Amino acid sequence: MTESDTDARNNERTDETNASCAITPGEDGDAGISADWAKRVWSAGSYAETAPSYLSMAAALVEKTAVSPEDEVLDVGCGTGNVAITAARRGASVTGIDISPTLLEQARTNAETAGVEDVSWQEGDATALPFEDNSFDVVLSNLGHMYGDPPEAATRELLRVTRPGGRIGVTSWTPSSLYPSMGGVAMSLLTPEDLPDFSAPPFLWGDPGTVRDRFGDAVETLQFETDTVQYPALSPDAFREQTVSTSGLFIEILDGVDDSDRQTLRKQLTETIEPYFDERANAVELEYLLSTATVN
Ligand SMILES: C[S@@+](CC[C@H](N)C(=O)[O-])C[C@H]1O[C@@H](n2cnc3c(N)ncnc32)[C@H](O)[C@@H]1O
Repeated sequence: MTESDTDARNNERTDETNASCAITPGEDGDAGISADWAKRVWSAGSYAETAPSYLSMAAALVEKTAVSPEDEVLDVGCGTGNVAITAARRGASVTGIDISPTLLEQARTNAETAGVEDVSWQEGDATALPFEDNSFDVVLSNLGHMYGDPPEAATRELLRVTRPGGRIGVTSWTPSSLYPSMGGVAMSLLTPEDLPDFSAPPFLWGDPGTVRDRFGDAVETLQFETDTVQYPALSPDAFREQTVSTSGLFIEILDGVDDSDRQTLRKQLTETIEPYFDERANAVELEYLLSTATVN
């Protein structure tokens, strides 16, 4: 799908997108996600159960950025290692960095199981990467950089650690896709003080115009592709239960919902999931934007 196709589809879904943008910019100037919050939330739940469903995204990132054995590669928000291990399998020298020590532990185990050795795993924040300027030939992130807050800092760090002429490849859920819509439903039942303190909705990284503004003239080329992953599920209800019980982010958001609203929430979440459920595939369709850039 081309960028103009993406824009058209996003325009079609404007109402839905606005409804899902319940994360609003902080009003007190110092609002934002703290590293401690991110570490706690992403270490909760069991993301390892979900990660294999996103392996095709990792393969796409590595393919589109033509990772080769000569490359030093950074995987930002590596989680359980989907991208880092895929890049290492191609012979690249890889560093995976993540805010969650729990997920890094699982990444180490996954690398061992996959028979991959040349990966260094480090704990750290996407908004303050512990690397010198121009350290990597390729900087990748599958759904990781998008949670670095504020996004200006995450953008600066992606650009800073990439060598001139190096490649950046990142994915994000699109604003009109299922998870942002589910998040919007859940957050509509929260009081303002219980809303996650993101400076901007993470999924704006799934909007080509926003990505273009963020990278600006620091990049020489910038390309967008929209694709989907099929997340296996037995029904919309089954997908809802799987998500709310395994995703640290949803567990955190739902923790703030009043017990009296929980029945309504379950119903609304199922209704939100239904249009994305493909009966013939036994799967929920999750749309994402893959952005690739070469750095000036
Ligand atoms: C949806 S998961 C994606 C994980 C992995 N890239 C994959 O393909 O499965 C988001 C990841 O971003 C990490 N993360 C969230 N905020 C972060 C931050 N500020 N700095 C570094 N990693 C972060 C989480 O711990 C989690 O591993």
